[in-house]
Amino acid sequence: MFSKNIIFKNFKSKIDKKQKIDLENILKKENLIKKYPLLKSLTSQYEYSYNKKNIKNIKKFSSFNLIGMGGSTLGAEAIYDFLNHKIKKKFTFFNNLQNEKISKSKNKKVNLVVSKSGNTIETISNFNLILKKQNKNKNVIITEKKNSYLFKLAKKLKAEIFEHKNYIGGRYSVLSEVGMLPAELMGLHENKFKRYNNLLKNNLFVNLLIENVAFIYKSVKKNKKNSIILNYDKKSENLFKWYQQLTAESLGKQYKGLFPTISTMPKDNHSMLQFYLDGSRDNFFTFFIVRDKNPIKLDKNNLFDQFSVLKNKNLFKVLQAQKDATENVFNRKKIPYRTFEVLNRNEETLGELFCFFILETILLSRLLKLNPFNQPSVELIKKETRKILF
Ligand code: PA5
Repeated sequence: MFSKNIIFKNFKSKIDKKQKIDLENILKKENLIKKYPLLKSLTSQYEYSYNKKNIKNIKKFSSFNLIGMGGSTLGAEAIYDFLNHKIKKKFTFFNNLQNEKISKSKNKKVNLVVSKSGNTIETISNFNLILKKQNKNKNVIITEKKNSYLFKLAKKLKAEIFEHKNYIGGRYSVLSEVGMLPAELMGLHENKFKRYNNLLKNNLFVNLLIENVAFIYKSVKKNKKNSIILNYDKKSENLFKWYQQLTAESLGKQYKGLFPTISTMPKDNHSMLQFYLDGSRDNFFTFFIVRDKNPIKLDKNNLFDQFSVLKNKNLFKVLQAQKDATENVFNRKKIPYRTFEVLNRNEETLGELFCFFILETILLSRLLKLNPFNQPSVELIKKETRKILF
């Protein structure tokens, strides 16, 4: 357990002492925020480029279009789904090249366009189509302060512009204005997400993180590079899409890295599990489950013979039994895994998970000797596309 919100069971395996010491030195002796300024956004000391007063008008709206790609939207999507029970506002995400008709809308909405570079072709195209169909919407743009296409367009439209800090890369931006402005507009409390200071003061958390990173590094060194998420919580799918992007773009370079993939459980018991148990052994696993406070109960009728034990049982009990059973078999087959069991679905929990995975990625990049903040091959495709189109 690293907080009252999450029970964490670490990988069971001995780890290399040297890696442990290296990681301890980074976490306990270095001034991490000075070295990695983006980490400031994980604390409540971070200063946003907007203040409560200048978003008051935007907060009055009830419908929002969030337009952006990759790191510019995935964090907000993760928040919207994970905390959906607390959210009364309607968000529509435009997160891929939109090849469907955008409908006209009677209500005036807010277009929230997020792009650090201000030149991403999918974002510009989607925004263009929305402007045509929903021309009364209020436009709010989060972008770097530089003469990009989006910046010029924002000026032309007299849109509200908030700065995307240039030292915070897209996939690390969830706790900056990129994820926290949407969270505020959803009616959530941004300060509750900021768990960095509490977690780093917690020795148990720090030790679990170190052992976890040392295990993953050892695994990658042995060519076990597939990080497979066994996700038992539908509302966390976007959280793991966020994790997938964070890991793949940060560590997939110089022929190194992890291959993050997501399995939907228990559906994949009937599809992928055979391979996970008996197929090639180049994987390590993450079980992820969230305790359901209001689970649906099965009916007492039409359940007989051996199925009569399910009378009035709730579906979460069934789900948990399936997860526990899978862990038991993994133990018997000595397949490496860690488990997150979330007890409370709230801002604090999500903030802790964001913080855990961001630190995990940065620490792995140190051991793998990689720059986690660039994405040379993403840029390559952007350039090649421009060569063809422009
Ligand atoms: O994490 C990243 O850096 C990328 O996924 C970007 O977020 C994505 O390519 C979109 O770029 P931009 O925010 O410049 O539109």
